[in-house]
Amino acid sequence: MIRLDDRLAAVASFVRTDRRICDVGTDHALLPCFLCEQGARDVIASDVNEMPLEAARANVEKYGFSDRIRLIRSDGLADIPPCDDVIVAGMGGELIARIVGGCTFVTADTRFILQPMTRAEHLRRFLYANGFEITEEKGAYSAGKAYTVVLAVYTGEKREISDEFAYFGKCGDPRYIKKVNGQLEKLGRSDPSLLSIIRKEQP
Ligand SMILES: C[S@@+](CC[C@H](N)C(=O)[O-])C[C@H]1O[C@@H](n2cnc3c(N)ncnc32)[C@H](O)[C@@H]1O
Repeated sequence: MIRLDDRLAAVASFVRTDRRICDVGTDHALLPCFLCEQGARDVIASDVNEMPLEAARANVEKYGFSDRIRLIRSDGLADIPPCDDVIVAGMGGELIARIVGGCTFVTADTRFILQPMTRAEHLRRFLYANGFEITEEKGAYSAGKAYTVVLAVYTGEKREISDEFAYFGKCGDPRYIKKVNGQLEKLGRSDPSLLSIIRKEQP
């Protein structure tokens, strides 16, 4: 049985295994293999680079899911056929925003499961400015670092969001809040207005 770390487990928890799934930037394809163990049958594991795709191919064969996981070399979603749940995890918020922005098959039912390593505030601003809404966020803690996983859908309604929402989103995890507070303290040296959105931390 495949064991995912807390970060990828949080990503997996938002995925509907009875839908068409694509994991963009799959690297080792452990997440697609895990999802197949959970019952998924129609999964694309994609990456822009050949080396990660080779690692992905090795794992897909090792776990015996070659009939359920298609490997596709693609820059973002450029060469990906329509799917229902799009995962983009383990990349910077700006790159994730660019990849989501390149989606040509979005419907009201498409789920975007996004896990930014950096610049989450940029990703949240991008999502709302381009008609997406964050329905839920989940905190995760792996190898001593706090992360958020964002679940977003397309509504078509474009909105501006506050600085506070851009930085914290809907993630109420105390470890994530602590991490964002640290970022705001640093950023506040050049933009003191950000100091006012620092949140009270749990003792
Ligand atoms: C740090 S790994 C993350 C792997 C996995 N998604 C995770 O969260 O553990 C980032 C992966 O994204 C791939 N990548 C980077 N830019 C990409 C792009 N524009 N389109 C598709 N994959 C990309 C890289 O080749 C790499 O395999």
